[in-house]
Amino acid sequence: MRPLLVRGGRVIDPSQALDAPAQVLLVNGRVEALGPDLAPPDGAQVLDATGLVVCPGFVDLHTHLREPGEEEKETIATGALAGVRGGFTTLCAMPNTLPPIDTPALVEAVRRRAEEAGLARVLPIACVSKGRQGKELAELADLARAGAVAFSDDGSPVANAFLMRTALHYSTLTGLPIINHLEEPALARGVAHEGWVASRLGLPGIPPQAEESMAGRDIALCALTGGRLHLAHISTAGTAQMVRWAKERGLPVTAEATPHHLCLTDEWLLGTRGEGSPFAPLSPSAYDTHCKVNPPLRTRFHRDALQRALREGVIDAIATDHAPHTPVDKACTFQEASFGISGLETAFALCYTILVAQEGIPLLRLLEALTVGPARVLGEKGKGLGSLRPGSAGDLVVLDLRKRWTVDPSRFASKGKNTPLAGVTLQGMVVATVVGGRVVYDARSSPTGGRG
Ligand code: DOR
Repeated sequence: MRPLLVRGGRVIDPSQALDAPAQVLLVNGRVEALGPDLAPPDGAQVLDATGLVVCPGFVDLHTHLREPGEEEKETIATGALAGVRGGFTTLCAMPNTLPPIDTPALVEAVRRRAEEAGLARVLPIACVSKGRQGKELAELADLARAGAVAFSDDGSPVANAFLMRTALHYSTLTGLPIINHLEEPALARGVAHEGWVASRLGLPGIPPQAEESMAGRDIALCALTGGRLHLAHISTAGTAQMVRWAKERGLPVTAEATPHHLCLTDEWLLGTRGEGSPFAPLSPSAYDTHCKVNPPLRTRFHRDALQRALREGVIDAIATDHAPHTPVDKACTFQEASFGISGLETAFALCYTILVAQEGIPLLRLLEALTVGPARVLGEKGKGLGSLRPGSAGDLVVLDLRKRWTVDPSRFASKGKNTPLAGVTLQGMVVATVVGGRVVYDARSSPTGGRG
């Protein structure tokens, strides 16, 4: 493989608190050197980043790739392409596929398919319970040996407290985090945040307490076992407060939030994209099923609390919860529609537009939550990811912070066109993505990264 010199950019690497003009040299798939005056070695390829930001490749802790079993929604190959177009060089694949990833052979199959696709790194997450049934623990030690990087029954919670206790106990043996989808089933029977918007629309609600009661239980079980607990897609002020409390006590608890929970609110269900009032006439685009996601979009109060928690580092990672669905899954009533937003290709721009440009969260902090933050959640398995220190994986992304673009889902590489952001203009664009020292996407040479 030819060495690659990324030249002329402003390098921002939160893992070393670096924000300075520099060149990055990648050799044999790894970062060789970083510095102000590196010359390209003989035969090197040069990637021009003049006027652009260069940072470590993004690490997504929460991606639904749908393969095996639901390839009409996404495949590992289409998801990996969507990933690199969104700046994500590592995708942790959730195991709620058909069949669920609950055996070493299935973990191995996901890894092989990802290698064939050859774009983003795909790290398999395996199930906590056999068949994701929430009854019997999967063979966690065998799954860890086969290459699982974490365990989760995501899409469903580990509702049984004894099963969760045992899984966290195993975490002390495998060293891998247990990722829980926080949802007390008896409280989560609705389709939207329980509040005035759901009432106005006549939709059954999901109260914040459906999430918070399970977050509290899990933190208590983390204290009991010492196992590593990672809280998936947190969406409420109360959960953020509990994570803050747990961290202050030194518990091994980490948390992620999605771009949509950090940036949008349940007022989007009214079709007004945030300008809603309980007394305004309903917009023709109310009940847009593309806004249906689990946990639900919540109120400004909760969104603001998540933004504060992100700013303060209480939230470790921004994770997309990329949940691709077919048009049929969304072309129905709000109550019937599938939960989920296709998020890989809009994550960075949505976060940059709202969190940095509008809310003033430092860019370094946003990039930390997309790079070394999630890599740290992965512990040993995340070593060398999310960083441009010499010796790290040669994964980086080139960003144009000034570029504005309008979201057109028909141009997504993902099969999932299900986004509430269609037609919205965002600021910040992924210009190029490098994985293992190889340029896998360059918007300047082809709008589809040379793949179609
Ligand atoms: O909105 C969601 N969609 N939330 C989840 O937890 C699962 C996901 C999916 O798999 O579609």
